[in-house]
Amino acid sequence: MKLLLIFLASLCVGHAVEQDLSEKVFVFPVSSANSYVKPIATLEQPLTAATLCMRYFSSLSRTQTLFSLATPAHPNAFLLYKPSVGVYQLHINDVSLNVPGLPDQTGKWNSVCWTWDSNSGLNTLWVNGKRSGRKILGAKASITGVPSIILGQEQDSYGGDFVQAQSFVGDITDVHLWNSTISPCEIKFYMKGRAFTPGNLLNWKNLHYSIAGSVYEEQSDFDKLNCS
Ligand SMILES: *[C@@H]1O[C@H](CO)[C@@H](O)[C@H](O)[C@H]1NC(C)=O
Repeated sequence: MKLLLIFLASLCVGHAVEQDLSEKVFVFPVSSANSYVKPIATLEQPLTAATLCMRYFSSLSRTQTLFSLATPAHPNAFLLYKPSVGVYQLHINDVSLNVPGLPDQTGKWNSVCWTWDSNSGLNTLWVNGKRSGRKILGAKASITGVPSIILGQEQDSYGGDFVQAQSFVGDITDVHLWNSTISPCEIKFYMKGRAFTPGNLLNWKNLHYSIAGSVYEEQSDFDKLNCS
């Protein structure tokens, strides 16, 4: 049964590949409701803590979606969204929280890390080396079921219902996801482009994913020296 499910899941994602994307970015050049990347992550047990790190480069000033993880029960199970420039919005199991006051540079790389621990409910958002005050969201929550992860679009239902006005336009790279909170040192290493322990649920150096629509893989221009 488990094998059959794995087989069926692999049919649904189309031509999934597994690749080391070090020094690569995904480019989303057009605003659309059908261009996206679907990274595959397997949860061995429900998520009760997580860290997401990623970098994005965008020239858009409208709403956009940075990372969308849906479960069968919650389209916005773990969602990082930007309602406008300079405002980040965290969602856990369809409850949201705005985080203003952090860097959001238009036409430059932004490095973001979000840590969440359901035990305390504490969330911290880091952007370009600065961090937010700690905020409560997702206390005692757990993220269960097979996750559907999408880059480039926002899932209004499990695996679909994308809206062009919420799509991402620009470049995304270095996406890592852990089932734990990682240390401030690891986060600082990540932000500066230095060595860090890669994500155990999503690892950019060994990403299993499929692509739909107009998405391109290009060389990364994230400037590591600038960030030292
Ligand atoms: C985290 O993920 C690893 C690998 O899937 C798993 O072995 C471990 O049990 C998970 N830990 C927690 C706390 O979920």
